Amino acid sequence: MRKPLVAGNWKMNKTIAETRDLVFTMSMKLRKIEGVEKVICPPFVSLMAASALLEGSGIGLGAQNMHWEEKGAFTGEVAPGMLKELCSYVILGHSERRTYFGETDETVNKKVLAAQKAGLTPIVCVGETLAQYEAGQTSDVVSTQTRAGLQGATSDFASKIVVAYEPVWAIGTGKASSAENAQAVHAGIRQVLSEMFGKETAQAIRILYGGSVTASNAAEFFSQADIDGALVGGASLKVDDFVGIVSQSKVAKGE
Ligand code: 13P
Repeated sequence: MRKPLVAGNWKMNKTIAETRDLVFTMSMKLRKIEGVEKVICPPFVSLMAASALLEGSGIGLGAQNMHWEEKGAFTGEVAPGMLKELCSYVILGHSERRTYFGETDETVNKKVLAAQKAGLTPIVCVGETLAQYEAGQTSDVVSTQTRAGLQGATSDFASKIVVAYEPVWAIGTGKASSAENAQAVHAGIRQVLSEMFGKETAQAIRILYGGSVTASNAAEFFSQADIDGALVGGASLKVDDFVGIVSQSKVAKGE
């Protein structure tokens, strides 16, 4: 069975002091919610403060990106082993990284394999643009990104990978995908995963939906067979909204 997972991607928001306040308040409420894995992903500079506050809370911590090399002359970058000391998750291949920072399926794949080596759990983002959606290319785009991003992972590691389907047109727009559309894409992703790693492994992989998730629309997404949680942007910065989303996602799914 797949335990639901809800992760908050804070993106480039909150100072260290603000992170302390928000994590403190949020964790008081989140720690009481059982049956769902909760993950907070603040900016790099706040990971240290957040990890101290979350110790023993059962709430996971994640980074939003990393480099694939172990160390070296890569000014401004952060290595997998550095993150491993602070957190256990890392968001990889977010569409904002693909759009603004030149990430490709190839670099995402290098990062996924680096996460495997370092023992980090990647949350690998896939999703089509509005133009691709309108051209009916969603399934092709998402399948290609999934295959390319996860290729070379061992089955054992693959079962721990988290995939996040985030249609680019739904991110930060207030225009979420319909739950039915997301379910159809998720089922397609699980089919690709099944072809890559076998049915059993594919059944173990959590696939999250992301893109304008709120406390009002979360339940509809979570009621779908292949939607195992959410990757939340804007609403993860507001205590009541994020707690509201997390508390609605308690049903384990799968075989
Ligand atoms: P919003 O929830 O703000 O649409 O952002 C989604 C997202 O990009 C999460 O990674």
